[in-house]
Amino acid sequence: MPDFDGRTCLVTGGASGIGSATCEALAARGAHVVVTDVDEAAGRGVADAVGGEFTHLDVSDRDAWIRVVSGVVATHGGLDLVHLNAGVTTYPAAGGDFPAFDIAAMPADAYRRAMGANVDGVVFGVSATVEALENRGGGAIVVTASVAGLITWEVDPVYTLTKHAVVGLVRALAPSLAERGITLNAICPAAVATKIFGPEAEDFVREARLRLMPPSQVADAVVLAAAGSETGQCWVCYDGREPKLYLPAPLPGLDD
Ligand SMILES: NC(=O)c1ccc[n+]([C@@H]2O[C@H](COP(=O)([O-])OP(=O)(O)OC[C@H]3O[C@@H](n4cnc5c(N)ncnc54)[C@H](O)[C@@H]3O)[C@@H](O)[C@H]2O)c1
Repeated sequence: MPDFDGRTCLVTGGASGIGSATCEALAARGAHVVVTDVDEAAGRGVADAVGGEFTHLDVSDRDAWIRVVSGVVATHGGLDLVHLNAGVTTYPAAGGDFPAFDIAAMPADAYRRAMGANVDGVVFGVSATVEALENRGGGAIVVTASVAGLITWEVDPVYTLTKHAVVGLVRALAPSLAERGITLNAICPAAVATKIFGPEAEDFVREARLRLMPPSQVADAVVLAAAGSETGQCWVCYDGREPKLYLPAPLPGLDD
């Protein structure tokens, strides 16, 4: 497994689930981890557990991004890895059944919240950190997208929209970041055992003939993508299988 000795790594949504597992995986490989989240109590707990530090960061707030990154650069001299992971669905994980999606009834604040965390959080995260990565001589950005960025998830079409958006950003932006020594990749997990969904996730994954995978499996994929030289790629993660590179289908009329 790759070594991150002495590297400074920033993880968003690091208080829980995939983000928390990534903090653990990076710290276990020698990294100094800056755990960020809006959940201060849980975030501090993760930071203490991994010997890192916690900083409050709402990823949808561009000014907050600038403040947090300049603080990290002032303290640590730069950044080596950024895991843009914070994300939400358009409904609360409150248990019970998945609510039937009705776009006319979707509260505007649920839409803004999902766009803010899942899309703005990635766009602002990349824009705020590229300079700090470049000044270090290069680095890696890994985004937690989803299989919902590659196929449709009818339970939450707006979540699907946000994940398709970040997959598009990763693929289109990677070449220009490569010129600055920065890799940009997306991890696209299927179902992961975290608190983003309530207990209804069990039923959903059974119906979809999937199994919930542990967050540590996704964290391992993040570490591999960050350490590798590939860029602009999407890595699909299913329970118990190695991450697989997603190959886009040829475009009819253009590629044939
Ligand atoms: N769990 C799954 O099945 C699954 C599958 C594919 C992709 N994902 C993606 O994985 C990522 C992590 O989710 P998870 O499953 O670990 O869920 P989680 O709910 O356990 O963790 C998400 C974390 O993000 C934080 N967060 C939410 N909004 C934020 C904001 N605006 N600013 C900063 N932090 C914020 C939350 O406080 C929480 O700690 C998300 O982007 C999610 O879409 C999850």
